[in-house]
Amino acid sequence: MTQSETPPSSDGTRRRDLLATGTVVLGCAGACALAVPFVESLKNPVANPLSDRLLDVDLSSLTPGQDMSVRWRDWPVFIQRRTPQMLAALQAPDHLATLRDADSKVLQQPKDATNWHRSVRPEYGVLIGVCTHLGCVPSFEKPGSTPEAKGGYFCPCHGSHFDAAGRVARRAPAPCNLPVPPVTFLSDTKLRIGHSAGDPGFSMSDIQQI
Ligand code: FES
Repeated sequence: MTQSETPPSSDGTRRRDLLATGTVVLGCAGACALAVPFVESLKNPVANPLSDRLLDVDLSSLTPGQDMSVRWRDWPVFIQRRTPQMLAALQAPDHLATLRDADSKVLQQPKDATNWHRSVRPEYGVLIGVCTHLGCVPSFEKPGSTPEAKGGYFCPCHGSHFDAAGRVARRAPAPCNLPVPPVTFLSDTKLRIGHSAGDPGFSMSDIQQI
């Protein structure tokens, strides 16, 4: 069985920590440096004063096909507003055949995001921007920026591709889909990160690989 076919470990964090110790320090320095400008570009809106684990985000400036990044609990969080074309691409049978976990069977998201678009509302995707391989920050591939770009994410460290729902490509080194944080829409343009109204018992510690 090749590395790319290895199923996710039930103890993924420990597996990644071991890999990180041996590989990241020596081998990833240059590639990780590529990701630094992206991390530095993250916006950091004011956290909800009631709890440092809740973050309210204004989505009113996010136009279809765009994404934005915020920081929550020291993780970058990608928020994208999907076009009808992006949503259609997520459901195309030939695309689904290229994914390792098209149906989100591995617990990488709350129950209310365990669906074909891996989000509470199909129009908005919300993903933890940490590659499930060795933890680099993937970059957004704006739809139409290249002939292949359909609004997914690419990790510069070892070349993992994720689609617009954060689902990892079958042949990528990353073992799992990008994690989805718990979110609740307070209005059509206001998103709260840190609590899932549809899965209130969900905790980020439930995630298998982050
Ligand atoms: S960290 Fe290796 S592919 Fe992302």
